[in-house]
Amino acid sequence: MSSESLANLLKEERRFPPPAEVAAAANVTAESYARATADRLAFWAEQARRLTWSTTPQETLDWSNPPFAKWFADGELNVAYNCVDRHVEAGLGDRVAIHFEGEPGDTRTLTYAELQQEVCKAANALTSLGVEAGDRVAIYMPMIPETVVAMLACARVGAPHSVVFGGFSADALATRIEDADARVVITADGGYRRGKPNALKPAVDEAVSRTPNVRNVLVVRRTGQPVDWTEGRDLWWHETVDGQSAEHTPRAFPAEHPLFILYTSGTTGKPKGILHTSGGYLTQVAYTHHAVFDLKPETDVYWCTADVGWVTGHSYIVYGPLANGATEVLYEGTPDTPHQGRWWEIVQKYGVTILYTAPTAIRTCMKWGDDIPARFDLSSLRILGSVGEPINPEAWVWYRRTIGADRTPVVDTWWQTETGAIMISPLPGVTAAKPGSAQVPLPGIAATVVDEEANEVPNGSGGYLVLSEPWPSMLRTIWGDDQRYLDTYWSRFENRYFAGDGAKKDEDGDIWLLGRVDDVMLVSGHNISTTEVESALVSHPKVAEAAVVGAADPTTGQAIVAFVILRGSAAEDDGLTEELRAHVGQALGPIAKPKRVLAVAELPKTRSGKIMRRLLRNVAENKELGDVTTLTDTTVMDLIQAKLPHAS
Ligand code: WT7
Repeated sequence: MSSESLANLLKEERRFPPPAEVAAAANVTAESYARATADRLAFWAEQARRLTWSTTPQETLDWSNPPFAKWFADGELNVAYNCVDRHVEAGLGDRVAIHFEGEPGDTRTLTYAELQQEVCKAANALTSLGVEAGDRVAIYMPMIPETVVAMLACARVGAPHSVVFGGFSADALATRIEDADARVVITADGGYRRGKPNALKPAVDEAVSRTPNVRNVLVVRRTGQPVDWTEGRDLWWHETVDGQSAEHTPRAFPAEHPLFILYTSGTTGKPKGILHTSGGYLTQVAYTHHAVFDLKPETDVYWCTADVGWVTGHSYIVYGPLANGATEVLYEGTPDTPHQGRWWEIVQKYGVTILYTAPTAIRTCMKWGDDIPARFDLSSLRILGSVGEPINPEAWVWYRRTIGADRTPVVDTWWQTETGAIMISPLPGVTAAKPGSAQVPLPGIAATVVDEEANEVPNGSGGYLVLSEPWPSMLRTIWGDDQRYLDTYWSRFENRYFAGDGAKKDEDGDIWLLGRVDDVMLVSGHNISTTEVESALVSHPKVAEAAVVGAADPTTGQAIVAFVILRGSAAEDDGLTEELRAHVGQALGPIAKPKRVLAVAELPKTRSGKIMRRLLRNVAENKELGDVTTLTDTTVMDLIQAKLPHAS
């Protein structure tokens, strides 16, 4: 990026210091940064002691063959034992592990003792199906307790799981089953979404018809909808698991034993199977969940709204919270079923104290209006988290004010499927928060911003986000493709992990994420971040959501085209474009003014909530759309295209 980037023009002066009561009782204090900086490896060795090892590791990091890391390599542990049994052994068997809330309103409570029995039965069932340590198991499920049980049962027997998001097509599922060479698939007849049963089994049937190595399909009955059945291959969960013994002796595996493969959808190329292993991964998810959310397992009720099909669900629904003995909510459905207050109703019902969600959901709630959360008692909340994309300052402030009663710290957590755990985030009892910035690398993490030539940029400048030291929960490789691991992450800058995100350091050295490098626009020789223009647009009272793209332009190289969703009462009128252009010009400078502004009803998003700017760019350039299969709703693009006066 050129140094004359606009990256510093968006001035965000608001500061939110930690509330005194949070600071006074915080799990992690400022002292941790100094300790971790003084001896990073000793710091992580200390965090590894949060876990129960059958063989305590003596070695911390083996970096003799970079970038292929081994953490705690001579240690041995069982991940499921750490997430379940040890809490029961510590006398906490009656503590609630999971408050399950089904979309139709059915509920189920699982204590740690009950979770242990379920996981043991499922582990015995997997063994009875011939699943051995090292075999891969694909999981294609709705958000129900059996999904968590299935993941932990795999971990218990040492069979790496590959969870495929239940919204993905048969095609996507088949590709992932094939790449991991999974032998067993765990699924359900369906799950509830938007008030209706949503079938899963047909996609599995289709995928498995193309993947002959799959021996068995284990099917949870959730909705009771009719399913096709292949005798000898398909098995009901209740017939196969429920009758098994609830005793199962966990076996210890080496710390580097593969725990799971998770495919990143990426916008181009074949999906990458990100490989995570056991000891280092569990150490860092447990530590970060304790530090960033300030978890007090005796009293907190934690809720992460992500789907277990994403890494957020793996690390912060399953492994981190359960390793820490947390009590958590698991919700099956959508936020607006049967009404737009469903989430807030759940917070009130269970007394949720820590909420972790995504900016896209926060902006959607903003759009629905403040009166909806206002109908519920949200006073139990004490920490709010955000993840998945940069959070615009307006959305951040709305989240804190409207959901957090202007009292709760907001932690904006930057990380990736590849990093396995949170890397950059404020600490709720330490950091004076800045809306829109993830701010500081966590203790034990080395992150910085570099220019094109790999030089660290001075404060006040922008460039590329890199991680300069290995970390315990780092991906170990791309499944079956070491070369692609090297090429994708380790070849852009020598000895540093390239995250693919643009970032800037402000005058205090705090880090602001600016979106994927592919999303940066080049206008008349200036690098302009999509995130900053979007934040400027969303700070206008009429705008609820915005997506901007750089479309080819004969005079300026690229021209900024903005797609905006207006707030409830705002109308599209002739003056809107000029009003928003002027507003962005004032916030960021004239060069950042969008050339065109289009009001639309929806934006194209992937199923994990990321805006697909590539599609919008094609619309703005009158090009063929290309692959739309990862969109949540493909009709969105027809609506957007219909808005545009097409050049012939
Ligand atoms: C990409 C990783 C990490 C779990 C969910 C996404 C973007 C994520 C933030 C944040 C700015 C963020 C980055 C990153 N991202 N969190 N707090 N601020 N950007 O996992 O699907 O692997 O996506 O999400 O662009 O590289 P993922």
